[in-house]
Amino acid sequence: MRLSRRTLLHLTAGAAALPAASRLAWAQSYPSRPITIIVPFAAGGPSDVLARLLGERMRAVLNQSMMVENVTGAGGTIGVTRAARAPADGYTVSFGHLGTHVINGAIYPLTFDLLDDLEPIGLIGGNPQVVVSKNAVPAKNLQDLIAWIKANEKTVTFGTAGVGSGSHFSGLYFQSLIGTKATYVPYRGTGPAMQDLVAGTIDIIVDQASNAMPQIQGGAIRAYAVTQDKRMAAAPDIPTVDEAGLPGFHIWLWSGLWVPKGTPQDIVAKLNAALREALADPAVLKRFGDLGLDAAPANRQTPEALRAHQKAEADKWWPMIKAAGVKPSG
Ligand code: MLT
Repeated sequence: MRLSRRTLLHLTAGAAALPAASRLAWAQSYPSRPITIIVPFAAGGPSDVLARLLGERMRAVLNQSMMVENVTGAGGTIGVTRAARAPADGYTVSFGHLGTHVINGAIYPLTFDLLDDLEPIGLIGGNPQVVVSKNAVPAKNLQDLIAWIKANEKTVTFGTAGVGSGSHFSGLYFQSLIGTKATYVPYRGTGPAMQDLVAGTIDIIVDQASNAMPQIQGGAIRAYAVTQDKRMAAAPDIPTVDEAGLPGFHIWLWSGLWVPKGTPQDIVAKLNAALREALADPAVLKRFGDLGLDAAPANRQTPEALRAHQKAEADKWWPMIKAAGVKPSG
């Protein structure tokens, strides 16, 4: 049967429209099954706690559970690579931060483009880092701690979540400012590293305030300074690095959510709306406050704002990281 040219055109036009139509129907039925949030660090650490807190609240909006999967290793690159390679269907979300979604791009030979192959959903917010040590360290303030590190450089250990993680590049930056090269001990996250700091197995971590706060308040570790120019409302007794004599050692560890490139915009919009609702929830904000976390301002919770912020942070940190010659092997 020979089809007329006109019928053929109509059919192809129809056909061409079909995938879009089914794509729209598909996006409208999203989510129709549980969503996985890949957290590139160990359970119990700051990234894990934050992802679970938000996932639980976003579940109520999306009407589907958001399950955290901890895919750890290589400073977070294993988990982020897994997410970047996942199907662009909205069922795999990448949780990450300044370290995993910016810093690692200047260190690891990644098989994807960190700034382009992940579609931003939204900026979550963040916290400063805090310099903490085990209680046995004979130092009352940051200057004492710096003197102690210099006097014991060969034996002092810094706990990290792997090369390129927030705790690693913060330790690098700290040591570059005080002129020491003490040893880094990598863990799969600062959750397990913190356990060893409390136990006295390692000496120091420059960690996310949200992870250190409960141990500081419990007197299990000692805090010296927060890496910003204003004290934390959650811990007003901890001086800033500027007050403690290391002016300018500023790091704000922000976190965000991404999906694989090519995920339909309808789905990105649904995930962004769920994230915004979670970040506007008083119970979530109370928990943020207790942990020393600040939610991103509403006008910065858009996918576009996260993309712009990620790019600006790469422009700021990559030259420094590349100049320091940081290698994946440490
Ligand atoms: C974690 O969740 O363990 C941290 O985000 C790790 C880090 O980047 O220091």
